[in-house]
Amino acid sequence: MGYIIENITVVTCDDDGIKILKNAVVETEDNIITYVGPKKEFPDINRKVRIDGTGKALIPGLVNAHTHIPMTLLRSYADDMDLHTWLFDHIFKIEDKLTDEDVYWGTQLGLMEMLAGGTTCFSDMYYYVDRIAEATAESGMRALLSRGLTNNEDKEDYGDDFRINEAVETFRKWNGEVNGRIRIAFAPHAIYTCAPKYIRAIRDTAEKFNAYIHVHLDETIKEHNDSLHQFGKTPARHLYDIGLFDLPTIAAHCVFVTEEDLDLMKEKNVSFVHNPGSNLKLGSGIAPVPEALKKGINVALGTDGASSNNNLNMWEEMNLAALIHKGARRDPLAVKAEEAFKMATVNGARALGFNNTGKIKEGFAADMVIINLSKPHYLPEHNLLSNLAYSAQASDVETVFVDGKILYDKGEYRTLDREKILYNVNKVCRRLFG
Ligand code: NI
Repeated sequence: MGYIIENITVVTCDDDGIKILKNAVVETEDNIITYVGPKKEFPDINRKVRIDGTGKALIPGLVNAHTHIPMTLLRSYADDMDLHTWLFDHIFKIEDKLTDEDVYWGTQLGLMEMLAGGTTCFSDMYYYVDRIAEATAESGMRALLSRGLTNNEDKEDYGDDFRINEAVETFRKWNGEVNGRIRIAFAPHAIYTCAPKYIRAIRDTAEKFNAYIHVHLDETIKEHNDSLHQFGKTPARHLYDIGLFDLPTIAAHCVFVTEEDLDLMKEKNVSFVHNPGSNLKLGSGIAPVPEALKKGINVALGTDGASSNNNLNMWEEMNLAALIHKGARRDPLAVKAEEAFKMATVNGARALGFNNTGKIKEGFAADMVIINLSKPHYLPEHNLLSNLAYSAQASDVETVFVDGKILYDKGEYRTLDREKILYNVNKVCRRLFG
């Protein structure tokens, strides 16, 4: 089983940059891309499903490198306030009431939203991860999932910590499942919600399982200054000294990281996840992305949860990433369209450790998105990459493939039950907020 997509404009992401192939053909077999190039004869063409790509572009699936997917349930619940008021006075109070069933339906809602916007892969941090994994497995999407771990108690031994134990259980059950589409990371939530020894215990547990780390880093000036006051060092230096960065790490936000912090991140290959929408909405600030790029750090993009954004639209993040640094520095070269596009695709795949995704390339997993270019905002097509970074809308996404399967096509979901999901989300919200 496979597809042959003909007459299409392919946006590849190769190590030597992005290339645009006009009038090209892409062939898949099972879950793998088996050919990318000019028109040619395919001996077994009748065995495959043929798709005419005239007037369309094929791009790698978008990677949302930092989100809290069930927070779709909290969308527009607490807006226009700073991170600490938002989190401690509003969000945590509702989250105390969430059941695993609520998390399951909130996840399904987020999966619908992400798929329709061309996101094929994401990195999540939340709880009831077992249900998030279940929903993700059913949807066919790809994800690096983690249980957010919080404990400010200073102890020598965290062997009885129910959160770490839950994370371990989830790792054992789900890591590498559904053809490797689901992997499990370990996630100390942030330095202000985890005692240093707790972070060390998480690090040691993750190391035993050869797992990735997902953490919030230096998101607000308060976190930054509290860290200087409490530990005498920046949040990044604090985590570096604990040894967290010895493991492959995804660090979300990084708004206040210093020049020296960036050197530490580069030294340890930490991926920097830029969340421009969330950082702007919570009034946190603007992360030093141009400096991170200059140092050769892998910068990916994320939406953060739908309660601090307020959507899971990676096109908006790409657009913001390409614009806000230019304005803030009065430098139109601060982040170029191509850089923003790579952050949303190949850099995200690399950050999450899905190393056979993020590119339209032979041998890679077929995580790909067809974009309908027959719309006014794509004409004229002087520069397709500019059009994708500056003009594209999530609604231009026509077809979404993950691991060689079509999960979304022209408004229809192949694996998710739209009516059932909307019904259950409304039911859950009536109970939580009614
Ligand atoms: Ni977050």
